[in-house]
Amino acid sequence: MKLWGGRFKKAESKLMEDFNSSLSFDRTLYYEDIEGSLAHVNMLAKSGILTGDERDKIAEGLNSILKDIQDGTLLIEGDYEDIHSFMEMNLIARIGETGKKLHTARSRNDQVAVDMRLYSKRKALEVVEYLEELLDVIKELGDKNDYIMPGYTHLQRAQVVTFRYHMMAYHSMFQRDRKRLLNAIEILDESPLGCCALAGTTYDIDRMHTAKALGFKKPVDNFMDGVSDRDYLIELLSDFSLVMMHLSRLSEELILWSSKEFDFVLIDDEFSTGSSIMPQKKNPDAAELIRGKTGRVYGSLMALLTTMKGLPLAYNKDMQEDKEQFFNALDTVQSCLKIMSGMLRTLKVKKENTFNSVKKGFLNATEAADYLVNHGMAFRNAHKVIGEIVLYCEEQEKAIEELTLEELSKFSELFKEDVYEFIDYENTLKKGIKKQIRE
Ligand code: ARG
Repeated sequence: MKLWGGRFKKAESKLMEDFNSSLSFDRTLYYEDIEGSLAHVNMLAKSGILTGDERDKIAEGLNSILKDIQDGTLLIEGDYEDIHSFMEMNLIARIGETGKKLHTARSRNDQVAVDMRLYSKRKALEVVEYLEELLDVIKELGDKNDYIMPGYTHLQRAQVVTFRYHMMAYHSMFQRDRKRLLNAIEILDESPLGCCALAGTTYDIDRMHTAKALGFKKPVDNFMDGVSDRDYLIELLSDFSLVMMHLSRLSEELILWSSKEFDFVLIDDEFSTGSSIMPQKKNPDAAELIRGKTGRVYGSLMALLTTMKGLPLAYNKDMQEDKEQFFNALDTVQSCLKIMSGMLRTLKVKKENTFNSVKKGFLNATEAADYLVNHGMAFRNAHKVIGEIVLYCEEQEKAIEELTLEELSKFSELFKEDVYEFIDYENTLKKGIKKQIRE
């Protein structure tokens, strides 16, 4: 069932009809489609293009459609071309001839553009809320577990940090993600309704009225851009990709840390799964799925960038491809954020194990070199001396602080009793990261 056909002699092939139809996925936009249409008819009546009676009849029809969809009495299905055709034909079936006036001074091009802006703005704000929840969970988890642990570079033990400090690195990443999303929302916050097909309309419409009624800052400046701009979806997909990249890095750490090799954390049963053959196994599937699903969000970003790259102005049907990519990426990022919050809220950190790893990793070697520098040795020479001490410790299976002053003095005369305090792990933290945090 179509909204066009007057200029055609032959019916569309079934194959083409199926290929062209977007109803199976753009039905997601039913609410925004009705919201946009209601704002449109109100403006038409206010501008004297529809009578008050006509507006009321159409609004009543649209509201009854909305109610029936929400009740489940009207299913969004059938051989309609898209959600816009579905709505208009249902309206005409309900209220008759007046329904045919809904599409005055409007095109599906500005209709779909306004639907997508309304929807993506609303959903991006939801993602911001999920991010804020995750930020709180990360902070709480860090505060509860301010334990010493090894910090890594090249995945080799490097210097002492705390579990809290490590988690707060992710806090910084997700805070940037939040800002990026709010910025993208700010940029997209303009209404394309009233651009019509590409060049506006002969009717004296009021675009500012519909923009305000729909909660946008203002109408778009240029009609041709308004109907064919999908930058905001690409920008949101790019922001989602960064969120996923951060979630994926954190997932990777949780997977490593929950292995027996690290044994730093315990992922709760609620977010773990078992093996069908190996009874002893507890697998970090939640974290692995987040890491795995990152690919599909990057894929959506690449797909839409590619769809858009060669399109002449203004609207082209290629743009229909934006929806499945955006909806899928949105679902993915939202569910991954919820799962990560759940996993971290129930995570147990194994304090003894993180501390033991610090002891076994010569994590105070840099500070030991600093000690020698403070007593007059050039850093490069101190680096060499401590390197030799580490080699000696490895042979003796000891930590640096376990060597006697006599042993240390064989490497340098500068070592005195106060070296032990200087290279104490808690002290290295105080002199290092804790001094730098302004909280
Ligand atoms: N389903 C279409 C889309 O998503 C709606 C716009 C159709 N416009 C048109 N001129 N055929 O892009």
